[in-house]
Amino acid sequence: VTFLGLFLTVFVLLLDFLKRRKTWNRYPPGPSSIPFLGSMLQMDFRQPQVSFTQLSKKFGNIFSLQICWRNLVVLNGFEAMKEALINKSEDIADRPRFPLYEHMGICGNSAGLVLARYGRAWKDLRRFSLSTLRNFGMGKKSLEERIIEEAGFLNSAFESEESQPFDPHFIINNAVSNVICSITFGNRFEYNDKRFQKLLHMFEESMKLATGFLPQMLNAVPSLMHLPGPHQKILEIPKQIMRCLKEIADEHKESWDPAHNRDFIDAFLGEIEKAKGSQETTFNELNLLFTTSDLFSAGTETTSTTLRWALLFMLLHPEIQSKVHAEIDRVIGRDRRPELGDQVNMPFTNAVIHETLRCGDIVPIALPHMAYRDTEIQGFFIPKGVVIITNLSSVLKDETYWEKPHQFYPEHFLNAEGQFLKREAFIPFSAGRRVCLGEQLARMELFIFFTTLMQRFTFLIPENQPKPQLKPCFAVTSSPHPYQICAKLR
Ligand code: HEM
Repeated sequence: VTFLGLFLTVFVLLLDFLKRRKTWNRYPPGPSSIPFLGSMLQMDFRQPQVSFTQLSKKFGNIFSLQICWRNLVVLNGFEAMKEALINKSEDIADRPRFPLYEHMGICGNSAGLVLARYGRAWKDLRRFSLSTLRNFGMGKKSLEERIIEEAGFLNSAFESEESQPFDPHFIINNAVSNVICSITFGNRFEYNDKRFQKLLHMFEESMKLATGFLPQMLNAVPSLMHLPGPHQKILEIPKQIMRCLKEIADEHKESWDPAHNRDFIDAFLGEIEKAKGSQETTFNELNLLFTTSDLFSAGTETTSTTLRWALLFMLLHPEIQSKVHAEIDRVIGRDRRPELGDQVNMPFTNAVIHETLRCGDIVPIALPHMAYRDTEIQGFFIPKGVVIITNLSSVLKDETYWEKPHQFYPEHFLNAEGQFLKREAFIPFSAGRRVCLGEQLARMELFIFFTTLMQRFTFLIPENQPKPQLKPCFAVTSSPHPYQICAKLR
């Protein structure tokens, strides 16, 4: 045993020596790292954005880290992020490898959208997905109509709680997810539908499992995946999601009529048909599943979390809630449903939604980027292949830019005359080549869902309950701790 222990220690030290960070000229500074773990002990994986912001105070806005043997550069603050995401957008447009998901076939031309390496396959898929989402209005029902319809179901579900305390998480998640279902599967589901609930539950679990110390280790040292242990669950849930999506895709194939695309899956089947025989294509059946899964996971939790923050801010700031009510009554009234065209006449409500995205800090560290070529940011050298973390949180809460960075203050988005004010450092959807693909959809959903709820209800903290906390929980998205709400009819 002693010999084995000694052998393993020498082996790890030797491996560490060989794989350890190389030093490049003008490479960003960073904390010291220890064998094997690198700088992992300097990180709080439950809220990485906070660790990054603290480290940036010590090492500057651009600093380097090592996670096991992966080299990372973390970008902080508005100026560094603007240079990287806007001016050097292509230089940082790549994504690192995620060995954790490669065992399912997520690699090369079949990597979906979110985890795909920068290149032709990703570009073709992104173009197709964007235009399919945009053209959705050409069907029988426009996207706006579908969201307005779902907002009606959302209101009814809130109303059925009869002003009693409840946690809004479940209902909001269902409504938001139904918009993606309607786009990808062609129909919405009842909120108690078993298959729908199973799918939602699996996506939520897989988001939780994708963050933290363990997934970082497995991505950095993939051979650990072959050992038994709790991490096997991380590998199992995405497989279950794929099985469920495959069932739905197979049902589509059986009833598919190429002349009438019902939804995203049908449109994708059409592309697979066109691309038959081509080895290079990104339009294959595996990628149909990965892309559908991406739209689901990227499109549900983010928007649902934002709406939960919005209601929480309304609970905690009744005076702001009253102002939103007053604007809705003045511009829309109580008899007709809110629609997108109302937005231009509602600067205050619009500012509240923007401030929710800023202060709620929904995807604080975005998704990891990777240097596509050697590049330079703020005078620092970043070699091709280094992982780049964009700490969006540090921009949304940049103390040199926002007047009250750590408070909920809708006036950040209003000028002295009360008109809506665009802000350059407002980048909750990131920016550049990898900017969120669903930004337009999310903005539509947020406006219609939020305004429809606010038109009908006053939100109150249940009697005899303490004020809900503002402290976030992190699992790719930063969401509020579960809280209870009373929705009183206006
Ligand atoms: C990527 C934020 C809603 C689909 C991202 C990224 C952020 C983000 C920060 C990472 C960008 C980067 O890597 O630099 C948000 C927020 C949302 C939202 C705050 C809601 C409030 C949606 C919706 C969809 C969606 C509704 C689905 C239609 C995607 C996809 C990507 C992405 C596919 C990957 C893009 C790529 O790598 O090319 N989002 N998102 N998102 N988002 Fe969203």
